[in-house]
Amino acid sequence: MEGPELTRAVVLHVDRRDRGAPPVSDRAAAARLEEAVGLAQAIDLEITDQIIAPVNAPRPSTLLGSGKVEEIAERVKEKDAELVVVNAQLSPIQQRNLEKAWGAKVLDRTGLILEIFGRRASTREGTLQVELAHLQYQKSRLVRSWTHLERQRGGFGFLGGPGESQLEADRRLIQERITRIEKQLESVVKTRALHRKGRARVPYPVVALVGYTNAGKSTLFNRLSGASVLAKDLLFATLDPTMRVIQLPHGRKIILSDTVGFISDLPTSLIAAFRATLEEVLAADIILHVRDVAHADSEAQAQDVNRVLGELGIDEVRRGTIIEVWNKLDLLPQDERAAREAQALRKAGTVLLSAVTGEGVGPLLELIEGRLGAEDHVYEIFLDPADGQGQAWLHDRGEVLSRKSYADGRTRIKVRLTEDKAGQAQARFGRAIKMLSPAKAVAE
Ligand code: GTP
Repeated sequence: MEGPELTRAVVLHVDRRDRGAPPVSDRAAAARLEEAVGLAQAIDLEITDQIIAPVNAPRPSTLLGSGKVEEIAERVKEKDAELVVVNAQLSPIQQRNLEKAWGAKVLDRTGLILEIFGRRASTREGTLQVELAHLQYQKSRLVRSWTHLERQRGGFGFLGGPGESQLEADRRLIQERITRIEKQLESVVKTRALHRKGRARVPYPVVALVGYTNAGKSTLFNRLSGASVLAKDLLFATLDPTMRVIQLPHGRKIILSDTVGFISDLPTSLIAAFRATLEEVLAADIILHVRDVAHADSEAQAQDVNRVLGELGIDEVRRGTIIEVWNKLDLLPQDERAAREAQALRKAGTVLLSAVTGEGVGPLLELIEGRLGAEDHVYEIFLDPADGQGQAWLHDRGEVLSRKSYADGRTRIKVRLTEDKAGQAQARFGRAIKMLSPAKAVAE
């Protein structure tokens, strides 16, 4: 049986030689072409040709020189392609001129990324964010291509009110839609903030996954949560599908949160659109930066991710909360594996693992637990039957791990407390409270 028909596409990487240092530092043109092909495949295109076009003097009308434009037109025709993915930012005029010259639709980098994000968005918030970014992109195209569109449509305002050109009508419609989505987003974000506040009362730390696209975030998310999802945790029944409560080896619970994948040259407008999702990252207690260390471009990808984190305001101090997860260990050849192992040992806050085989996942959980537990301890408290408020007091301030009632009416509570809350508890409960050794903290 044949699958659905794929759109035939040519992927073109524009190698800008005219700029000093390109934004994505030292990445070779071939690697960037390969990345663009990977992205194009993510939206079900059949790639019939891959081209690198060097540009020394960008032309305002077509970006590429006229010889190059013709050469590509030939290849598009030869391969019967319907679409050309141009790995560069194009002005609306350039896009239109290239479409005409090649007799094919043209998608630039922002357009491509919007397509990908649109397909992957799984939450209501994500869908709205992508739609908003898409509309803003379209609107900017309309504004800037004002003259050509108006000429193309004859400049009459058939659909609009009196004196309103088609373009003005389009812009008005887009603006209306933007306003509507912004309102919807606002309410989604408010709900999310409420959830976050709800969670804040439950002292489960948040661990957020970030990483370059294809680094293996979802695979790691599934592996970590698959091992120990607390399916019946009613408190979290309303959580986003991209969040799970999991239990660490020594019993501590965390919320694991998957976020969007990063892509190099992520347009600033898109970063803004995803700000609400990325705020989840900002609020995290620990950030897991998942890296594909088997990828030839691993270092450049890590720099890209760090740049975005920097733009989000995750400063040097907060960077102390980042753990680098060096993923896809299973794909490394033996000698490289040994070198990486040695490197990871020298660099604090780094774990080498494979999300697919599970090797190294244990040490990651230990590291997370170690970081979170640095200043917390588990305490045992015997509550007097007369102390009716005692339990509520503890629930409000710590993570209650277990509760046991005795025949004499007393209740024993095990609770995890931060240092300052432990101080308050000592003042309130006096001799009834005792810190437990790590071994006793786990054993029932
Ligand atoms: P985005 O959704 O694009 O952000 O990607 P992601 O970071 O969530 O990556 P995902 O988990 O979808 O993994 C991408 C690909 O890498 C998949 O084909 C995975 O099977 C593969 N992969 C992930 N982790 C490993 C690993 O440890 N070893 C190997 N061999 N493959 C892996």
